[in-house]
Amino acid sequence: MQTERYWPMVDEEKKSLMESIHQLCVAEIAPRAKHHDETGEFPTAIVSKLAEMGMMGMMVDEKWGGAGLDVATYAMAMEEVSAACASSGVIMSVNNSLVCWPISEYGNDAQKEKWLKPLAQGQKLGCFALSEPGHGSDPAGLQCRAVKVPGGYKINGSKNWITNGKEADTCILFATIDPALKHKGICAFVVDTKIKGYIVSKLEDKLGITASSTAALFFEDMFVPDECLLGKEGDGFKVAMSTLDGGRIGIAAQALGIARCALEASKQFATEREQFGAPISKLQAIQFHLADMTTRLQAARLLTWHAAVKKQAGVKYSQDAAMAKLSASESAMWIATKAIQVHGGYGYTKEYVVERNFRDAKITEIYEGTSEIQRLVIAAEELRKS
Ligand code: CAA
Repeated sequence: MQTERYWPMVDEEKKSLMESIHQLCVAEIAPRAKHHDETGEFPTAIVSKLAEMGMMGMMVDEKWGGAGLDVATYAMAMEEVSAACASSGVIMSVNNSLVCWPISEYGNDAQKEKWLKPLAQGQKLGCFALSEPGHGSDPAGLQCRAVKVPGGYKINGSKNWITNGKEADTCILFATIDPALKHKGICAFVVDTKIKGYIVSKLEDKLGITASSTAALFFEDMFVPDECLLGKEGDGFKVAMSTLDGGRIGIAAQALGIARCALEASKQFATEREQFGAPISKLQAIQFHLADMTTRLQAARLLTWHAAVKKQAGVKYSQDAAMAKLSASESAMWIATKAIQVHGGYGYTKEYVVERNFRDAKITEIYEGTSEIQRLVIAAEELRKS
């Protein structure tokens, strides 16, 4: 855990909130992280604590049960939680960015009252179901079908890689009224996961973030009433893409937390471990590793905060979010790899946290858009400027 705490852009009141979040992470989340990683047990007690502190709906207006905080404070909180437990970080990120945000942005008042309030208060948990077995990076071609019937839609199809898929009470679900329409046929729905026809069909056995569930979902003649449609018919792709822009800031912040944990562990190890008659932190070879790790972490952090400030300002930030996620996730993987190198053989064992950091970092280069997709977004936005 980081000893020096630096939260710019926040006033005194928010600094004290950040201090409380940090204390919660040190005292209650970090000590349980190894257990959750080893057992894969969902961190129910941690999620309840996060909910108590208003961290499951951080950016949601207080009127709808949220904490009414800004995006940068959310990113800093995400980094804190993820430095302690990356599984808890992604559970929190999905609920905040991928579930509360689209309902806040595209939902009507009745939808906000019914769905958003309990999600933002942490009484309910959400998941975001876009990806399918044959459509991960290319969601415009998704096949899950919504057929209009009196009073609503009948939904059939399947989804893959759904974080929180096992525990979620509410699902933001994307389905098409006609696959031939490609992205223009996609609709977004807010769905109660307990309804008939909603089936959690498989849970993935994963390399990292083992305490967060990743599920395959299956929908069999599932009736969803008209009032569950988010936005208008055909708005779904825009809902998904704009939601993922914000989600990428959350995952960038998660990656920062994982990287920070690896760096802190490496610093501690390097000052305690002696070789050639002195702590290895005295060796320039180790100092160079630590210097590069620190620099890459801070560069990624500044990109993440910059994207958060732009989102908060209400200006287009798709490219900034993609740059933040690309930089933070690739830096996290790189820093975690270096951290194992600093630890030598010890770093390759489960006794040291850097082994978990290494496994947890990898997913940040994949979910909510792979690094290759982030590069596509960055290049497309850059070419648009010329
Ligand atoms: N915001 C709003 N609208 C957007 C947008 C954005 N960021 N990006 C594109 N659009 C709109 C475009 O303006 C266009 O609209 P019009 O037809 O009105 O002009 C429309 O969407 C189609 O745009 P594109 O032609 O650019 O779309 P594309 O099919 O070529 O896709 C892509 C672009 C960037 C590759 C996109 O498909 C993408 O981001 N893919 C990655 C998907 C992803 O991140 N999946 C992760 C799922 S969530 C997850 O990981 C699981 C979890 O639980 C954590």
